[in-house]
Amino acid sequence: MTDYTQHKQLYLLCFTEDTAEDAELIFEKVFSKAKMLSEYNELGQPIAMLYLMDAKIVDNGKKDDYYYLYAACTHPSYRGKGIMGRLLEKAKAEAVKDNKKGIFLKPANPPLFDFYAKSNFLPYFNVCKVCMESAELINRYPARGISTEASDLSEWYSLRQDLLKGLNQPFVEFSKDMLVAAADGGIAVKGKDFGFVYEIRDNLFLVKEALCEKGASEKLFQAISNLLSETNCEKVEIRLPPALIGELSSFDNPLKPFSVMWFTENGNTLKTNGHHGFAFD
Ligand SMILES: CC(C)(COP(=O)(O)OP(=O)(O)OC[C@H]1O[C@@H](n2cnc3c(N)ncnc32)[C@H](O)[C@@H]1OP(=O)(O)O)[C@@H](O)C(=O)NCCC(=O)NCCS
Repeated sequence: MTDYTQHKQLYLLCFTEDTAEDAELIFEKVFSKAKMLSEYNELGQPIAMLYLMDAKIVDNGKKDDYYYLYAACTHPSYRGKGIMGRLLEKAKAEAVKDNKKGIFLKPANPPLFDFYAKSNFLPYFNVCKVCMESAELINRYPARGISTEASDLSEWYSLRQDLLKGLNQPFVEFSKDMLVAAADGGIAVKGKDFGFVYEIRDNLFLVKEALCEKGASEKLFQAISNLLSETNCEKVEIRLPPALIGELSSFDNPLKPFSVMWFTENGNTLKTNGHHGFAFD
């Protein structure tokens, strides 16, 4: 079994918002099943790494294999020397070797879109993002007795597939294990024709993925507003698939870049960009 002790230390050094407990969980549940590419210094210590996880894009019932790239990082003392650029080229070679159609990832912050563009990872997936003060959402969508029930994350996995299939837009599918790990700490809620997963981060009510049948977005927002009103969160962020843009005209510019993609040669057989949804963030 791979000993990840030093890689965990590198992870914690580079992703300072994560705790040792977060690192334990992600290495155990996710990275142990992923492909790791790493560079080492002369003492054999890891100085840069990235992980490639299996993911599929489902398009009209057809599934294609991709890699989802996560936790790319270089030790602070070794940055700016082209190490990550080299590792990204190695990741591309792995994708070709493993017959993947491409690699996608969510840059950890907006300036990193430019960094990845240098290696030809270009903006690909968008997300509809609704961000506002909680009071405003509650005011816009007063609760009207919308009935919801708690759902566990593995049940959410199937509900998610059903709702996404109904939206007729390609979407990313992770394995059930990975989805559950990505949503760790999140709470799944389902209604008749909608569902969402949220978590509370400090003062933010973050709905990591909100889905509904076309025409049901009002109920979805009412259900979110209902739960939100029971918290002390001052702000809310709701992430929805681009296919629902037509229902979000009352929000300012909801469509935002979300993640980047590099396709292998002849890899892009998708007609539209689709929905990334859950990311490990
Ligand atoms: C982003 C990161 C992986 C780059 O690693 P690296 O080995 O220094 O990368 P390279 O040497 O190949 O490339 C460095 C380039 O990235 C740019 N870069 C680094 N961090 C950046 C950031 N946050 N925003 C924009 N550009 C950035 C540098 O300016 C440099 O550009 P230049 O080549 O024009 O000088 C590293 O800075 C890191 O580990 N950051 C913290 C963890 C993180 O945020 N990872 C990304 C997760 S999506």
